[in-house]
Amino acid sequence: MANLKTSYLGIELKNPVIVGASNIVNNLENVKKVEEAGAGAIVYRSLFEEQIQLESAQLDDKLHEYSERSAEMINLFPNIEHAGPEEHLFNLALVKKTIKIPVIASLNAILKDSWIDYARRIEEMGVDALELNFYYVPRDVDFDGHTLIDQQVEILKAVKQNVKIPVSVKLSPFYANPLNLVSKLDKAGTNGFVLFNRLFQPEIDMDKEEHFSPINLSSPEDNRLPLRFAGLLYGNINGSLCSNTGIFTGQDVAKMILAGADCVQVVSTVYKNKIEYIATILRDLEAWMDSKGYKSLNDFRGKLSNKNVNDPFVYKRAQYIDLLLKSDEILVKHPLR
Ligand SMILES: Cc1cc2nc3c(=O)[nH]c(=O)nc-3n(C[C@H](O)[C@H](O)[C@H](O)COP(=O)(O)O)c2cc1C
Repeated sequence: MANLKTSYLGIELKNPVIVGASNIVNNLENVKKVEEAGAGAIVYRSLFEEQIQLESAQLDDKLHEYSERSAEMINLFPNIEHAGPEEHLFNLALVKKTIKIPVIASLNAILKDSWIDYARRIEEMGVDALELNFYYVPRDVDFDGHTLIDQQVEILKAVKQNVKIPVSVKLSPFYANPLNLVSKLDKAGTNGFVLFNRLFQPEIDMDKEEHFSPINLSSPEDNRLPLRFAGLLYGNINGSLCSNTGIFTGQDVAKMILAGADCVQVVSTVYKNKIEYIATILRDLEAWMDSKGYKSLNDFRGKLSNKNVNDPFVYKRAQYIDLLLKSDEILVKHPLR
């Protein structure tokens, strides 16, 4: 039987399937079920700057205002009395005590002081690692992209100086060159990368002609983006690589490892297929490995990465040109008339 062990952020995981930050952890029953279903680790939902700032009395007034802006916020505040940072830290410590698999905390602050203070306080909760959720939504035409990158590298360095636990960074794909940012953060000592987060996008209700914020679950096609970046980064960074977005099945997990990932995070598949499905993902991964004769993940990790595939048509510009030149094939498959 295949051995699914992997190493992430210097922590040994019994398998590469981590349940990513989400509301799945909102109650302890779910957390226990995640462990029973066999997940390798769990990421507790993010503590947000808004929670830190909007403590107690302020929170009530501001909640509505924030819920207009981000679905993530709405989901984050299921019970107003449980929304403050103290409650968050308390629940985080409780989760850590309840399960044996590694628990990774997540932080999304804005002010440098908050990043540092809460990174320290999170570490005190006994968690195994800290994920910095660099969730940034562009909203200001005058804000220079270089400034954002400099700030994020500075925050990473500051957090690393203040905690001993491993620190990973979770990024969105919306940078001019995510590879360059990953490389800068890697050189600054990041222990691992979660690529990529999925930004909540506003939607418009056409009958009411007003905005709403649907829960933004992904689809399997979305995993081609993290696949590409795992393939490009494999062998080029010191930190570990955790692929995220659109990973639904055991075969999807195997694909990410083939491209070069150390592990994956899953959320949408758990919402769509229920927590027990984690066991199916693991069984299918094992079955695929058995069918290929792979005994461990290292037997095929990075086999199809850019480093190991000497084909300019896979990860490079040539792939795009090739596709366009084959446009007649597309018309055969998808006739326009
Ligand atoms: C309801 C919900 C809540 C989420 N909360 C967080 C969060 O607190 N912190 C975070 O970094 N990502 C959060 N995410 C993003 C997920 O962790 C993940 O990055 C994203 O959903 C892509 O993975 P998937 O395709 O497996 O869903 C949330 C996603 C959903 C659907």
